This record gives sequence, structure tokens and C-alpha cells, in this order.
Amino acid sequence: MPSLLLYGAYGYVGTLIAREAVDRGLDVTLAGRDREQLEKQVRELDQPALRFDLSDPVAVAGAVDGFDCVLNCAGPFSDTAAPLVEGCLETGADYVDVTGEIPVVERVREYDREAVDAGVTLLPSVGFSSIPMDCLAAHLADRLPAATHLALGVDSVRVPSVGSLKTVIEGAETESNVYEDGRLERIGPTERTRTIDFGRGERPAVAMPLGDLSTAHYTTGVPNVEVYAYVPRPARVALRVYPRLEPLLSRPRVESALKRLAGMVREGPSERARERGEALLWGEARNEADGERAVSRLRTPDAYVVTVQGSLNAAERVLAGEAGAGYQTPAGAFGPEFALDIEGTSGFFDSAVDTERRPAASR
Ligand SMILES: NC(=O)c1ccc[n+]([C@@H]2O[C@H](COP(=O)([O-])OP(=O)(O)OC[C@H]3O[C@@H](n4cnc5c(N)ncnc54)[C@H](OP(=O)(O)O)[C@@H]3O)[C@@H](O)[C@H]2O)c1
Repeated sequence: MPSLLLYGAYGYVGTLIAREAVDRGLDVTLAGRDREQLEKQVRELDQPALRFDLSDPVAVAGAVDGFDCVLNCAGPFSDTAAPLVEGCLETGADYVDVTGEIPVVERVREYDREAVDAGVTLLPSVGFSSIPMDCLAAHLADRLPAATHLALGVDSVRVPSVGSLKTVIEGAETESNVYEDGRLERIGPTERTRTIDFGRGERPAVAMPLGDLSTAHYTTGVPNVEVYAYVPRPARVALRVYPRLEPLLSRPRVESALKRLAGMVREGPSERARERGEALLWGEARNEADGERAVSRLRTPDAYVVTVQGSLNAAERVLAGEAGAGYQTPAGAFGPEFALDIEGTSGFFDSAVDTERRPAASR
């Protein structure tokens, strides 16, 4: 049976993925840098484990050697993706992760040529960010092949885990991004807003720097992409004042206090919250020249449920040799229907193609 190395196995998401991997009967080895936490997990799951940190490339390659695929759940991925990708390229293992960070997706893509030469699959962002939105983008591009613009959005209100909070505090909110004419551009955190009907009436949404932006662009080749998220009012206010607070927040003592505060939120959403959670995704493909427009929607279970199921669905298909070598996106590797393999996901709900022009985004 092909072997999977699960790095960051004892974090919040890693723990959920580790349990599900064992339930699926996969040949999984638990890995991370903390001996004590790994030992505790070995006692719970009765699986082999490997302790290593990511500081020494030779040690990382030595640890990865012999595995068919690495599934990385250790974030922020700005710290963990590159050393593990390099270890995979060195040893011929495939690489999968659950990053939602734009710079990480872009960085992993830079290894594309090397990965093709090494016959290695690099498939980042197979969590909630970016499977459903990437598949929705691919579906819309199939519906409107001449699309020049894609606007995508998500409505998912939930309590983040400690790791997600830390990733946000690392600075993701200081700016946002869009793809414009095929280039990744920076915009202010609340620079672009619009209202979106995700399926329960018009809601205010803000363009956010989610990894889905990069995957949607690479999957579809559409040059102009925006990714919006429904943001409740208190969060919108916080985003607006953030630039003024940023010089203060980025001082090392304040930043470390914030991280400690994030560390006080002991765990992510409970099982009950995960069972009840859901997300509504919306997407619009548009052709600037003739005004043609297609809108589709998708409904998924809770973001963490999608992350656990989606990452393992992806890892299993990579282990089965179904993904090509080089940098891959979720829908690029497995097609738009890949999201529908996640239990509880429904769609695509398509509105008829029309030629109505939507109001321009406010800038
Ligand atoms: N794509 C998505 O939709 C999606 C969904 C959920 C979460 N995420 C992301 O997944 C990541 C993990 O989330 P979580 O909730 O599981 O966080 P968590 O509970 O804090 O777990 C983080 C894990 O990463 C490990 N880690 C962090 N930095 C490391 C480093 N430099 N070297 C080695 N190990 C390191 C931690 O190990 P130690 O305890 O030893 O530090 C821990 O095992 C976050 O970045 C989050 O944003 C993405």
C-alpha cells in the first residue's frame, strides 16, 4: 500500500485528518517537531510516528525518503511549505498541503519546472481553501469559456482555530490582493467591496487575500480574478482601522502578545459546531467585451469538514497516481466535479447565462 507522511499531525486540523486517515485504513505515519505531542498521538491512534523539525534540509530529505506522499498540515505554511517541498523534490515524494495563503501557493508554483523534471506532484491548498472555490471557478470557466473576469465569494461564519488565528495575525489582513491582467496586485484591506447574494439575500462582502485567488487564476487562466468573503459589520470596521493600527501591531512585543492571546483560545470549533457549520459559495464569470455573464453557486459542509475530507480525497488520488507531475491546482488535477466528492456538498446551482452588466465594484 502506498505510504503517506502526515506532517503537523497533532495540530487541530492535523488531528482531525490523522483520525480520518486511520478510519480510511491508509498507511499513515504521523509526523511533527514535538516529541511529547507525537507520543500522545501515537498512544491514541496506534500508528508509526517520525519526529523532525524543518530547520535542516538534509534531515528533512532523510525523513521524507521512502514515503510516496507528504500531506502537510503545519501552518503558517510560509514557514513549513518550502522545506517540505524541497525534501519531496529531493526524494521523489509527492507533496500536498492545506495552505490558504496566497504567497505560499505562488511560492510552491515556482517549483513547477523542477517538479515536472523530478516527476513529483505539488498540490497545495486542498482544504476548504481552495477546493470548493477552485472547482466553482473551473465550472464557471467551462460555462463561459470566453470569460475575462471572475468574481468569487464565500459566506462562512465560524470560530477559527488557534492556527488560523495565528496565520491571520502573521499579517494577512494588512492588505488584500486581486489578479488584474494576469498579474497579482495588492489593494487595501477594504478597497474593493460589493454586495453578493450567496443564496440567502444580498450581503456585504470584501475582497480578501485568500489562496483561492491564485488557484482560480491558474486553473482557469482567466486574467482578472477577485475573491470576496461575507464580512459581518464588526469585522469590516476592524479591517478599516487596521492600517492605522498596523505600525503598533507590528511591534514585536505587541505581536507576540497577540500570538499569546491567540494561544489562549485552546481549541478550534467543537464537533457539534463542525457538524452544524456550512458555507455558501458564489461565483460570476463575465466577458468584458460582450457583457455575457454566468453565475453559479455551491453549498458545502463546515470549512473544517471540507478540509479534512478534501485533503484526504486529494492525497488518496495523488497516491493512486491520478495527478500529473508539476504544480497542480485542485480542479486542475481532478476536474470541477472534485468538490462534489465531499460528502454534504451540493451544486452546482446555475443561473441562466445573461448579458446584464453588474454594477462595478466600488474602489
Ligand atoms: N486551507 C484551509 O481551508 C485551511 C483550513 C483550516 C486550517 N488551515 C490552516 O492550517 C494550518 C494549521 O491549522 P490548525 O488549526 O491545525 O493550527 P494548530 O492547531 O496551531 O496546528 C499547527 C500545527 O503546525 C505545526 N507547526 C507550526 N509551525 C511549525 C514549524 N515552523 N515547524 C514545524 N511544525 C510547525 C504545529 O506544531 P507545534 O505545536 O510543534 O508548534 C502544529 O502541529 C493553519 O495555517 C491554518 O490557517 C487551512
